[in-house]
Amino acid sequence: MTRHFLRDDDLSPAELIEVLDLADAMKAAPFDHKPLAGPRTVALVFDRPTLRTQVSFAAGIAELGGNPMTVDGGLAAMGSREGVEDVARILGRQAAAIVWRTAHQSDVVTMADHAGVPVLNALTDEFHPCQLLADLQTVREHKGRLAGVRAAFVGDGACNMGNSWVLAGAAAGLHVVIGAPQGFTPDADVVATAREIAQDTGGSIELTTDPTEAAAGADVVITDSWVSMGREEESQDRLRVFPPYGVTEELLAHAQADAIVMHCLPAYRGKEISEGVIEGPQSVVWDEAENRRHAQKAVLAWLLERS
Ligand code: NVA
Repeated sequence: MTRHFLRDDDLSPAELIEVLDLADAMKAAPFDHKPLAGPRTVALVFDRPTLRTQVSFAAGIAELGGNPMTVDGGLAAMGSREGVEDVARILGRQAAAIVWRTAHQSDVVTMADHAGVPVLNALTDEFHPCQLLADLQTVREHKGRLAGVRAAFVGDGACNMGNSWVLAGAAAGLHVVIGAPQGFTPDADVVATAREIAQDTGGSIELTTDPTEAAAGADVVITDSWVSMGREEESQDRLRVFPPYGVTEELLAHAQADAIVMHCLPAYRGKEISEGVIEGPQSVVWDEAENRRHAQKAVLAWLLERS
């Protein structure tokens, strides 16, 4: 059966660690693994803006011996010119795998149902699982472990990153604390699923509206843009609610002295993160961005081996 990576819990906790171990091995020896030799083609479809995702997948696929084929979602006009089911069958006949960034999670599920090759979610409104692989690889590099690490996600917990942090964090045995305003917590069903996963891994999920309480004692402090893609029309309302949730030097002082700070980027300095924090000694955002390549190579190779 073809395996896909559409949301963080598509990998079991044990499989997640396998993929992260492979990501570390690929980082240590970037040109030693060639599962796409041929070269085989991987389709990269973007309906939304991208920088890190496009370049890290393109570079990673090349390192795996493959050919990255970028498809402009606007030109393909998926959903209007032709349906996702048809596009899935077209791409699945050309490519060994499909990577897709789009709005709706239901569409990546449809793509996976019809493609016949592995489909990877490169960000939807609901989840950003590839980012979380890179983030967990980065946490493990800097903290030496995952289980038991306290991770505070402060800001818009209702976005893809909030949902993915609770799911992947639970699978990795982290204590994830979401510090978000009322109405901006991760999806209730996702939190319930994450708490079930955490029962087996020793992790936990906590929700608070108090950013200081969230940051208190944290080993990792994470934030993300207050206005995700597709939410631009809510900008004014959001910019009124979120300022107390900015990751500033003052907030960071409540975390562990050796806490690391993460942001998936792009960052809006002076809003969700201060200039001093993102450029400061605790920031690991550039490691995170680099690890996109290693982590995505690993999950792609892992899925191809099992499909
Ligand atoms: N939550 C952000 C993540 C960007 C990588 C967004 O969806 O815009």
